[in-house]
Order: sequence, then C-alpha cells, then structure tokens
Amino acid sequence: MSDWPQVPRFPDGFRWGAATAAYQIEGSLAADGRGASIWDDFPTTTGDTAATATDSYRRWREDIDLLDGLGANAYRFSVAWPRIQADGTGAPNPLGLDHYERFVDELCARGIDPAVTLYHWDLPQALEDAGGWLHRDTAERFAEYAGHVHARLGDRVKLWITHNEPFVHAAYGYTLGIHAPGKALLSGSFPAVHHLLLGHGLATAALRAQGATGIGITHNLAPVSPASDSPADQMAAARLDGWQNRVFCDPVLLGHYPDGLEDLFPGAAEVIRDGDLAVIGAPLDFLGVNYYNPHLVRASDASPLGFEFAEHEGVAHTSFGWPIVPAGLTDLLLQLRDRYDLPPVYITENGASFPDTLDDRDRVDYLAGHLTALRAAIDAGVDVRGYFCWSLLDNFEWAEGYAQRFGLVRVDFTTGERTPRDSYAFFRSLATR
Ligand code: GCO
Repeated sequence: MSDWPQVPRFPDGFRWGAATAAYQIEGSLAADGRGASIWDDFPTTTGDTAATATDSYRRWREDIDLLDGLGANAYRFSVAWPRIQADGTGAPNPLGLDHYERFVDELCARGIDPAVTLYHWDLPQALEDAGGWLHRDTAERFAEYAGHVHARLGDRVKLWITHNEPFVHAAYGYTLGIHAPGKALLSGSFPAVHHLLLGHGLATAALRAQGATGIGITHNLAPVSPASDSPADQMAAARLDGWQNRVFCDPVLLGHYPDGLEDLFPGAAEVIRDGDLAVIGAPLDFLGVNYYNPHLVRASDASPLGFEFAEHEGVAHTSFGWPIVPAGLTDLLLQLRDRYDLPPVYITENGASFPDTLDDRDRVDYLAGHLTALRAAIDAGVDVRGYFCWSLLDNFEWAEGYAQRFGLVRVDFTTGERTPRDSYAFFRSLATR
C-alpha cells in the first residue's frame, strides 16, 4: 500500500522479528507431562483462562508459516519451565524438550533465528510452594533448568534471554499482588527482586560453562519524568526510575545496586550475600529492552509507593490506556547509553493493543513512529541489532485475559483461526526491503 508511513532504513544484518511467550500462546497445559505453573489458577479480570490460548502448542507450524510470511529473520519465544521440569527440579522431561527442538529445527530450516526466553513468568507451582522467588534456592533451580534447555538446543539458538522483565514480575507478582503468584508484600518484596537477578547471573554462568554465546536479559524500561518541577515530584520520579530502571539495570551492567536501595526496600542488604553481585554483573552479550511508554509521575502520600502516575496530555493512547510517545524510545536508549557502558541492544518487545480490526492503521502508525525513533537512537550511536514486535498473535494478556489485542495477526479465540492484519503486511514491507 502506497500510503504507508515512511520509515528510515536499518543497518544490514538487522534482526526483524516478533515476540511471544509460552504461557500466553501455548494452551495444552496438561500435555506431554507439563507440570502446573503459578499462572494456571491465577484469576483474570475477564474470567478468561490460558487453557487453550492461541493453541500454539498444537498449531506451532502455522505460527512458523506466519513468521515466514512476515519476512521475519528472528523469532523471540519462551520455553515453559514446567514442560521441561514439571516440579522445577530433577531430570528434564524429554517430551518437553522434543517439542521445542522440533520447533527450533523448523525455524532454522526457514532461516529464522531462534531467540529463546528461558523464563517468561510461568514458574513451576511446586517451586512456588517451596517459597518461589522469595526463596534463594529458586535461583539455583533456574540455573539448572537453563542448563537442560541449553544442552538440547544450544547449537541452534542464537540469542538467550534469561529473564523477561524481572521488574514487572517482581512488582506485579510480589510487590503489588496483581499478577501470579499474587503476593502484595510491598517493600518486603526485595528477596524476589534479588533472587530473580541472581537467577539471571547463575543461569548465565551455567550457559557460559556449556559454551553459550549470545546471552542477555530483557528489562521493561521507561524514561521517567516528574509531572512538575516541585522537589516532591522530582523525588517521586527518581523513586520510580530507581525502582523500575536502576534496581534492575545497575546490578547487571555495573555490578552494584543503585544508591537509595534501602529507601525503596528497607532491609535489602540482609538479602544480598557476598559474591552475588559479581555473579549478577557478569558481562552480557546484549541487553534486551522492552519499551511501551514513558512515565510521568507525581508525589502522592495516599499511595504506599509514594508516587502516582500522571496523564500525558495531548497524546493518543492505546486500548490499554498507554500513552503513545515514540520519542520516549529514543530518550530511553540515549539515557541508557549515558548511564552504562552498553552492550549491543535488542528491542525485545514494542507494540500496542488496539481495537479488534483487520485494518489496524493505528498499529501501523505506532510501529512506524517507534521504528523511526529507534533509528534516531542508532544514528546517535546506540548499537541496536534488532527489533521484535509484541506480538506475532493476539494472545492471553495475563490478568487482562483476551481483552487486549496486540497481534500483527488476529486470532479468533473460539476457532483458533489466524488472520493477518494490515500491520502484518506493513511489517513485512520493512523486514523484506
Ligand atoms: C510483559 C510481557 C508481555 C506482555 C506485553 C504487553 O511485559 O508484560 O513481556 O508478556 O504481554 O508486554 O503487556
């Protein structure tokens, strides 16, 4: 279509892909010896469950056809830990590994590089029963699981992402209790933060010991601005920036937690053992960045967090109510470059939920805006190697069930039928030019 928005060209070798996560698409929750995960019984606001989702555990060949048709040269998906170890420990389940091996082989046969997320929030329930991420042992178990996956797939997987968004998992799952496992510990949630990061470090070491290259972690990051220049609002902005961005990036990229950790999480120091930060801060091959929108915050005594979100005025919003601010992606990447000695970056998620139409010009414009903003960051010197759109398919959006549609491809959740949207053709035009 000729009236598509212009997007600048990207460097040769750039990876163009889409992203999904096992629990959001697979269904078949009892197939081939899969164990229960913390999400299986977690209530959604819509009453939806992921029992079928997009049925991708069975319809995976169709998904690969769709990736091929999209012109993707990479695909980010996650391996479900409970399919590899039903209880999170012990010998790996060969049926689970077989499934992902078939999948990876077919991706490779089509020239699509597999980018594997090892943990996208579906913790085996048995490990949660033993304390979950609040319990240090879970980090050790995670490294063992990572080793099992790598031992089977390591010769074909190009990119390994240890964790997806440990901030969101810890904040929603352990601080606020709005995601599984539903714990609202507020400032008492630091053990989950630290053990997630420790799990990243231990898994990285386990993979390196097996010869892996291409190891990274995916963080959900956002530039944070104060709603006014009052000192209270500035402090509120620094607080969220500290919690979401610095607490998760500094240990990984600098080898230490940021100043102010004890203000966010009193007693944090007691959780951290000697040597942990050297493990967590081991060099990375890349940083995965998920960007959706920037944050504007003001101080609030009413909130236990000490701040609340303010509205971005004069910008459009997605169906989720998220402000659409492409320039925030440039700002974020330049901020990261200024703060850290950055490894190569992949945008491991970016995308938006919009009303359920096939002519999704809103999504086309969202993608064009953000890719243009990404190109500006590359021009300013940030080494960005690829972009994964969230998401290939409409899917199970966690606590929101099926209410929010993020797909380049529409899914009919009654029949499982997939229908590419206009944004799919638009993405293809960029990925294949
Ligand atoms: C997350 C995940 C995805 C979401 C996506 C849209 O950050 O929550 O990585 O699983 O579906 O971000 O909310």
